[in-house]
Amino acid sequence: MRAWLMDGYEGVERLRLAEVPDPEPGPGEALLRIHYAALNPADAFLALKQYPARPALPHILGRDGVGEVLKTGPGVDQVRPGDVVGILRCEAGVERWGTFAEKTVVPAASLARAPEGWSEEEMAAAPLVYLTAWQALVQWGGIPSPGEVLLVTGASGGVGVAAVMLGRSMGMTVAALSRSPEKGRRLRELGADHVFDPSAPDLRQQVLSALNGKRVDLVVDSVAGPLFNTVLHLLGYGGRISTVGRSGGTVPEFNTASLFFRRIRIGGVSVGDYTPEGAQAAWAEIARRLRQIRQRPVIDGVYAFEDLKQAFRRLAEGPMGKVLLKIS
Ligand SMILES: NC(=O)c1ccc[n+]([C@@H]2O[C@H](COP(=O)([O-])OP(=O)(O)OC[C@H]3O[C@@H](n4cnc5c(N)ncnc54)[C@H](OP(=O)(O)O)[C@@H]3O)[C@@H](O)[C@H]2O)c1
Repeated sequence: MRAWLMDGYEGVERLRLAEVPDPEPGPGEALLRIHYAALNPADAFLALKQYPARPALPHILGRDGVGEVLKTGPGVDQVRPGDVVGILRCEAGVERWGTFAEKTVVPAASLARAPEGWSEEEMAAAPLVYLTAWQALVQWGGIPSPGEVLLVTGASGGVGVAAVMLGRSMGMTVAALSRSPEKGRRLRELGADHVFDPSAPDLRQQVLSALNGKRVDLVVDSVAGPLFNTVLHLLGYGGRISTVGRSGGTVPEFNTASLFFRRIRIGGVSVGDYTPEGAQAAWAEIARRLRQIRQRPVIDGVYAFEDLKQAFRRLAEGPMGKVLLKIS
């Protein structure tokens, strides 16, 4: 099969397209012919040694995808050859070969059929970012209450769009941050009640006046960086920040006193913490909620398999939704 091989930790620009033997499914596993794969910033971080995983080399990146089951190993009863399925969060693309390849082997317990009416592209795009956004929203003790205010940074990205939609499905008031007016308009269509430019000098006043006396209850933060202190300022009593990523870099100055008086809590999110059963349960609930609000995953663009590096450049620019590869 053809696959994008990672020979070292020098970044995605050094990946090379090569022929390798097809992998074989072991007990509890399925071999898939990948149709579509989705890119995630974590792929680029792993390729730069900025991610905890240290897979054996050469490695194949790619954590999301959809494909047809070609063969199953012993003990698999969840799927059969011919089924077209998507991959929920697992070690594919992390510690074992992933989806930037014509074929890959995945634990059958981590496979799921696309929700009714979804395209293969939409199914390939969704699992990692929606499972991340789900954990970010519910990790503080369950589903947030309707009417609570959710602030989403990096809202046009994969995790951001997912958080906007899921927050909306919970009846939260959703405020989204995007540096692009065009993406801001799209975020309103997707369910954001308010959209702000994070680089506006009067961002704090803009948000507080739009919230009309309320403050933010929960933040899904993919950006961190210099924006973090503004985010903290906007929180009300008992406010929580789910820290997902740091697209904006490290936080330059942080005073723990900003947490005391409003009992603010900051908690890390790790999509790697899902068990296969936990991911299946969360996925079923995510699909149910998207159906209820009549929304589906948002795709920024689909690139040819050979154009993987171009696709990664698009991801680094800040897409509107997910960037995909069409493989076969
Ligand atoms: N903890 C976990 O388990 C987990 C899981 C998934 C992802 N992540 C991390 O979460 C982050 C977001 O992931 P993603 O898939 O949503 O990424 P993405 O699709 O690349 O989107 C990130 C968004 O953040 C905004 N952004 C990027 N750079 C920025 C900057 N310097 N300042 C302000 N805004 C910036 C952009 O939106 P605008 O251009 O609209 O402003 C961009 O669309 C990444 O760091 C990723 O590694 C963590």
